[in-house]
Amino acid sequence: MELLELMKYRRSIRKYTDRQIPKEDLQKIIEAGAYAPNAGGGQRSIIVAVRNKRLAEQIGILNLSKFDRSTLIGGYVSKEQPSVIDDKNIKNGFYGAPCVCIIFTPKNFLYAVPDAFCCAENMVLEATELGIASCITARAEETFDNDFGSELLSKWGIPENFIARAFVLLGYCEGEYPQSKPRRDGRVVIVDED
Ligand SMILES: Cc1cc2nc3c(=O)[nH]c(=O)nc-3n(C[C@H](O)[C@H](O)[C@H](O)COP(=O)(O)O)c2cc1C
Repeated sequence: MELLELMKYRRSIRKYTDRQIPKEDLQKIIEAGAYAPNAGGGQRSIIVAVRNKRLAEQIGILNLSKFDRSTLIGGYVSKEQPSVIDDKNIKNGFYGAPCVCIIFTPKNFLYAVPDAFCCAENMVLEATELGIASCITARAEETFDNDFGSELLSKWGIPENFIARAFVLLGYCEGEYPQSKPRRDGRVVIVDED
């Protein structure tokens, strides 16, 4: 698919089949993340890929353990692919995705968050190209702020001064892949030459 067409096609998928993604595809997705633009060319981000549905689910449940839905007001995220904001019965913040990538960046670095999300965006685009459904999700910082989380970080060898910033969920879309939403008008200014 041509790049712009692919960007327009990609959607955040929150209904996954049980089918695991191939390791070769996961490696390409990680490579795409590694080649993302990054502040100062520092290549600071660390990606941990959990290609294990059971562990992904355990982490996904922790992802919602401190989520306070009572502060949310109005609106909805998606009718076809309901998010944790739309459906309070969802207990797994990773929606049953069989694979989740966790992006870590340093704690005290000004561009830590943009670095992580640039990485995530590259990864979901590559996933789309490979026919793999994806979703970028948040609340990464709080997800590992518990005993089980600390255990995982030390098992994975994540340095003390790094913190989880973003997740990239990966799998195959259950049911129909949703259509793109129209874009809101009035959000672009082009300043041309005189
Ligand atoms: C910074 C960021 C954080 C996001 N966090 C979540 C999240 O925690 N849970 C979720 O289901 N989707 C999350 N999303 C996905 C957005 O909800 C989604 O991109 C948006 O609704 C537009 O839909 P689309 O990606 O299908 O075009 C996040 C996206 C971004 C860019």
